[in-house]
Amino acid sequence: MEIKSLELQNFRNYPELKIEFDEKTNIIYGDNAQGKTNILESVYLCATSRSHKGAKDREMIRFGEEEAHIKMIICKNGLDHRIDMHIRKSKSKGIAIDGIPIRKASELFGLIHVIIFSPEDLSMVKNGPAERRRFMDLELCQLDRLYTSQLSAYNKVLADRNRILKDIWVKPEYEEILPLYDIKLVNYGKYIIEARKKFLMDLNDIVKDIHASLTGGKEELVLSYEPNVSSERFDEELLRGAERDRHQKLTLTGPHRDDICFLSNGIDLRKYGSQGQQRSAALSLKLAEIELVKSQSKEYPVLLLDDVLSELDSSRQENLLGRINHIQTLLTCTGLDEFVKNRFSINKIFHVMDNKAGGYQ
Ligand SMILES: Nc1ncnc2c1ncn2[C@@H]1O[C@H](COP(=O)(O)OP(=O)(O)O)[C@@H](O)[C@H]1O
Ligand SMILES: [Mg+2]
Repeated sequence: MEIKSLELQNFRNYPELKIEFDEKTNIIYGDNAQGKTNILESVYLCATSRSHKGAKDREMIRFGEEEAHIKMIICKNGLDHRIDMHIRKSKSKGIAIDGIPIRKASELFGLIHVIIFSPEDLSMVKNGPAERRRFMDLELCQLDRLYTSQLSAYNKVLADRNRILKDIWVKPEYEEILPLYDIKLVNYGKYIIEARKKFLMDLNDIVKDIHASLTGGKEELVLSYEPNVSSERFDEELLRGAERDRHQKLTLTGPHRDDICFLSNGIDLRKYGSQGQQRSAALSLKLAEIELVKSQSKEYPVLLLDDVLSELDSSRQENLLGRINHIQTLLTCTGLDEFVKNRFSINKIFHVMDNKAGGYQ
């Protein structure tokens, strides 16, 4: 699996951009705010139909323009495919694969798998549960064909249910419809809980060895899913919490309150880990994610590394780079520091400046 080229038109700060990537390591460097992350965002968007930053379509269109285009040529199983994306201000985006328009973004599923690794991921263990849920969701949307639709249906029902809880005091007729929302919430929620449970079990199987090698055998990392409620008891608990929900005018039971626990030698890293331990655990998790994708889809994903090297000390850098040198990587950084030149084979370098990306081998 490989991305061969990328063409942008009026995407973020780029009026026009064309890049041909190497099949291995590509470095995109330049000063801050030059548009490095924007390039990775366009790749992520074209592969998954969503921005990894959660940006809305209209925000990604170049200021003052009405629409943006992304064209990406990828190679899968020896065959080239073209993905065209047409982003519009007030309509949903149009996507075509090999020139044939697709009706649902989910038809992109399975074409190309990308994993993005940004400084926010490195703070995932330290930060709040929302970031850890985001990690599960971003990956599961690519690994599990049904997950995206179940998750968006769940989020919609949840928002509707919360609106009902807010208004039920003044609109007693809502009493009758609330149970219908409960049924839907449980139905979609169960799928999400089960998918996350399996995902974390699979990751946990892989992460142990990776983390042991990253920490020189000093730490044993155990990942576990902390569901707010189990799928078996979701309906029961939702009912039990009904009064509390009404009182707080908010749905307090369900996978929208899930978390992931990181135990290292039995210690909860979220609360008691040092910054270094928290970062190592996050790094191990992302490395495990790469191996999980490989084991499930039989191919390595394309890796997007956004400014993470500068956040890691040299031994962690080496560990990361040593593990990914056989995978196509698009890596951004602000300078071509010695560490990159000396320890890592770079196949292609792009310098981003003034809304252009000049490439040289
Ligand atoms: N919709 C947009 N239209 C034009 N420029 C944009 C748009 N969105 C962001 N930008 C510009 O992109 C730049 C930031 O790009 P980014 O990729 O985050 O930079 P970095 O190289 O630091 O990763 C900023 O200068 C910002 O003004
Ligand atoms: Mg950036």
